[in-house]
Amino acid sequence: MRKLAAGNWKMNGSRDSLGEITALANAYSAPGCDILICPPATLLSRLSDVSGPAIATGAQDCHAKTSGAHTGDISADMVKDAGGTYVIVGHSERRTDHGETDPDVRAKAEASLTANLTAIVCVGETLEDREAGRTLDVVGTQMAGSVPDDATAANTVVAYEPVWAIGTGKVPTLEEIGEVHDDIRAALVTRFGEDAKGMRLLYGGSVKPSNAAEIFAVSNVDGALVGGASLKAADFGGIIDALAAS
Ligand code: 13P
Repeated sequence: MRKLAAGNWKMNGSRDSLGEITALANAYSAPGCDILICPPATLLSRLSDVSGPAIATGAQDCHAKTSGAHTGDISADMVKDAGGTYVIVGHSERRTDHGETDPDVRAKAEASLTANLTAIVCVGETLEDREAGRTLDVVGTQMAGSVPDDATAANTVVAYEPVWAIGTGKVPTLEEIGEVHDDIRAALVTRFGEDAKGMRLLYGGSVKPSNAAEIFAVSNVDGALVGGASLKAADFGGIIDALAAS
């Protein structure tokens, strides 16, 4: 399995940020892991033009329909047309800010697969869930509801992002990360069989160059979905290097 270092720029970046991509492209012509940047939709086409063969690009969301009267939305086909090969679906910020439910996320993931894009399906518990001991239940329910039936190791990635760890500098213990990743793997193998052993499971939430290596050493962690530390090539490079060495 090729591990994956994925950057989610969220609502950050401008044309000036293209230099960060060219810096990454120059530094990683033959990287030891897959590299992905998901910029805001405004930058996807430009960034895809300069990212080079070793750095994939993708979108942070897509609509479940292929086209039509959906002001402000973009379809999976449009992501592909702009050069993207991945779509993040069901990020907790979309679930919270836009009220996206598990069926919504599943429909977006299905649209991504139909467009021959790789879907990164995000799941994760709130602090309240964790403190109430509901983490595995909440994540299990999100997984069952959000991951499409035609998911395979080749077309789907799962990202475990505890909501309380995103942008806070707080990270679960390595044991806590391992417990959830092992549980996600077991659920995927039960549902999809042996193929799911090769499905990449990313951890996301305050991953930095300084904590990346220890997180990547945890069982069933096959990469990271990185927010803040993906905005600068130098920071993201530290995480890529740690993943390639893991
Ligand atoms: P941070 O790395 O900024 O905590 O964000 C994680 C995230 O939400 C990536 O999708």
